[in-house]
Amino acid sequence: MSIVLVTGGAGFIGSNFVRRVLEATDDSVLVLDKLTYAGNPASLTGLPDDRFEFVRGDICDRELVDRLVARADTVVHFAAESHNDNSLRDPEPFITTNLYGTFALLEAVRKHDKRFHHISTDEVYGDLELDDPERFRETTSYQPSSPYSASKAGSDHLVRAWVRSFGVRATISNCSNNYGPRQHIEKFIPRQITNIIDGVRPKLYGQGRNVRDWIHVDDHNSAVLRILEAGEIGQTYLIGADGEHDNKTVIELLLRLMGQPADAYDHVNDRPGHDLRYAIDATKLRTELGWVPTYSDFASGLAATIDWYRANEAWWRPHKSAVEAKYATQGQ
Ligand code: NAD
Ligand code: TYD
Repeated sequence: MSIVLVTGGAGFIGSNFVRRVLEATDDSVLVLDKLTYAGNPASLTGLPDDRFEFVRGDICDRELVDRLVARADTVVHFAAESHNDNSLRDPEPFITTNLYGTFALLEAVRKHDKRFHHISTDEVYGDLELDDPERFRETTSYQPSSPYSASKAGSDHLVRAWVRSFGVRATISNCSNNYGPRQHIEKFIPRQITNIIDGVRPKLYGQGRNVRDWIHVDDHNSAVLRILEAGEIGQTYLIGADGEHDNKTVIELLLRLMGQPADAYDHVNDRPGHDLRYAIDATKLRTELGWVPTYSDFASGLAATIDWYRANEAWWRPHKSAVEAKYATQGQ
């Protein structure tokens, strides 16, 4: 049995990862999370006391990070400022957490010689034209558009430099857009689900032609576990499940699944610099590590996600009015 230190374990993907590790392995989990607006302790309730420990703290606190990394066998680094729209309003925390925080973790894993896995995004590659036959691959050049994606791109480069210069035992994964339970309601899919629950019309940025490559959070996390088991040190793996849909189609599908007319949504101000399309070619992960996603049907994955938000209103309700107030100031 070993100890996995999970940074950002109170966030969306991290909390689902913590649950998966506790269910699928006999490892113990130590979470380090600052509990920013995006971290929710309610995402970590009901976990076994003897195998789970939560530490509230900042990944930029080098002394704390050093102490926790020393106790762990493996570090899986999810903690980040993760929302593009926030990075357009105020980029500073993105630079601090995503760049300096990753640096602090790298220095600690270097000192204690611990296995490190860095969670990143396909947004580091910029965007694709709608009709481009190419998809993002591990060899695609970096061209981030927003302060968020630029800070994640920088963090990826730091990891590669620590591997090459200091021999740190690290891997990187860049995943496409996740959906599923416990995603903060500022994000596209849960924002629209909770709007529809509230009888508010969903909000589509611009014309909604933008395409995202949706993957269920459990498929993302099964891929991360597979990389921890069998990934080659120094390598990057793209994670995606062939789930391209434009935003208009996603809103219409959500409305239909929730018993509303498919055109009952509003167009709102577009995002400045809005990336047009993301698409992942996950051939390397599939062929080299034998990973396969389990959620093949987007509509049924969304239906289960809608059920989760309906059944867990206490989880999201306290945040709804503040999220909508923030968007309202931007006409969104
Ligand atoms: P999230 O915003 O839901 O959660 C982030 C978590 O990190 C929160 O619990 C927050 O409290 C914590 N955190 C933030 N700053 C911290 C700090 N300085 N110290 C300690 N903890 C801190 O994010 P998410 O959607 O779960 O994303 C997790 C990771 O996955 C991020 O690195 C993100 O870039 C990456 N990613 C996300 C997606 C997606 O679709 N959401 C896709 C690909 C990659
Ligand atoms: P988001 O969930 O913020 O993820 P990302 O910016 O990382 O792709 O947004 C997904 C897509 O949905 C993106 O094209 C922006 C769009 N969007 C809307 O149309 N309406 C909304 O209310 C939000 C939050 C996003």
